[in-house]
Amino acid sequence: MTASDDRYASLLAPWERNRIAVGNRLAVAPMTRISATADGTPTETMRRYYERFAHGGFGLVITEGIYTDQAYSQGYLFQPGLSDRQQAQAWRGVTDAVHAGGGKIFAQLMHAGALAQGNRFRTESLAPSAIQPKGIQMRVYRGEGAYCMPRSMSDADIADAIDGFARAASLAMDIARFDGIEIHGANGYLLDQFLTDYSNHRKDAWGGAIDRRIRFSVEVARAVRRAVGADKPVGIRISQAKVNDYDHKWQEAEAGAAAVFGALADAGLDYIHVTEFEAWRPAFGDHGPSLAGLARRYAPGLTIIANGSLEDPVRAVELLRHDADLIALGRSALANPDWPRLVAAGRTPRAFDQGLLSPLGDIKPFEIEA
Ligand SMILES: Cc1cc2nc3c(=O)[nH]c(=O)nc-3n(C[C@H](O)[C@H](O)[C@H](O)COP(=O)(O)O)c2cc1C
Repeated sequence: MTASDDRYASLLAPWERNRIAVGNRLAVAPMTRISATADGTPTETMRRYYERFAHGGFGLVITEGIYTDQAYSQGYLFQPGLSDRQQAQAWRGVTDAVHAGGGKIFAQLMHAGALAQGNRFRTESLAPSAIQPKGIQMRVYRGEGAYCMPRSMSDADIADAIDGFARAASLAMDIARFDGIEIHGANGYLLDQFLTDYSNHRKDAWGGAIDRRIRFSVEVARAVRRAVGADKPVGIRISQAKVNDYDHKWQEAEAGAAAVFGALADAGLDYIHVTEFEAWRPAFGDHGPSLAGLARRYAPGLTIIANGSLEDPVRAVELLRHDADLIALGRSALANPDWPRLVAAGRTPRAFDQGLLSPLGDIKPFEIEA
């Protein structure tokens, strides 16, 4: 893709570091679309959905959250999985299509923990502690009413969950041929439940101060690294906010960020993907660095991906200048699968419409607008 609008040249420059090699700095953020078959197999519609982003110029596509095992990880009915060879084979159709379009694609691996609201293998859910989640289930993902009271995980449950991530990562790389793995450590799901003070009341080595609450994420990262080997990119997504608690902030503030990002930097990861509602805002209070800036400070040398309301390319360029190496777009990528091409041509991306959030309908093969 050639840029005719030089203001955005930094967004269109390649990135090659930390085992990541992408054609530009623009990634599609992970977005759950509950559009797989009932048994978690990716469909032809999903293939067309994902390939459009590559044709539209995104250097990297990060998939929706994919469940990892046939036990407690599934969060939503019609969520795709990477829990067996059949699901992995079907993902191969998606990865081949993205590759043919010139893009790279990472699998986001997810365990819903206490936020599971549609799991065809289990009726109960697991969590670090038996504490009912805040908020109510998401209707857009076919949920209704309060979340269930989860069961507190035993040591065996913890080992099984970690193992699930490792197995799914192997299937993702060896059979589905993804280019990398993103571990979902954000938004209130299982890893974030361990990290969050009010959902983790454990008295053992998995709970306590924040440097202990991040341990589960670290062990998942280490297991995934072992599973995929030394040369494939592995990253993790981190947030303060949760799907069931939008305003949450780490009470340890910058000291917490130092503990979290420092521990992750030592866990064999290549990148940290930070998501905040508005990525450029101070992470804590009215002043100071953004959460992406703090990731950069405390995980030096890792690639930083920033996400959150970055649909304005001027803002995205600004963030790349100091805090981040790649920019991930969610809603604006749904509205503009060709956002990189539009912006390179100096055109204004289309506005996001709530109707785009419903499960995938019939996606037409990608056509670039004249
Ligand atoms: C429909 C939809 C589904 C989402 N599903 C996921 C998901 O599976 N995993 C995840 O980490 N974030 C998920 N998110 C959050 C997005 O990745 C992103 O953080 C959010 O949309 C904010 O970025 P934006 O301002 O560019 O839209 C989802 C967001 C939307 C709109």
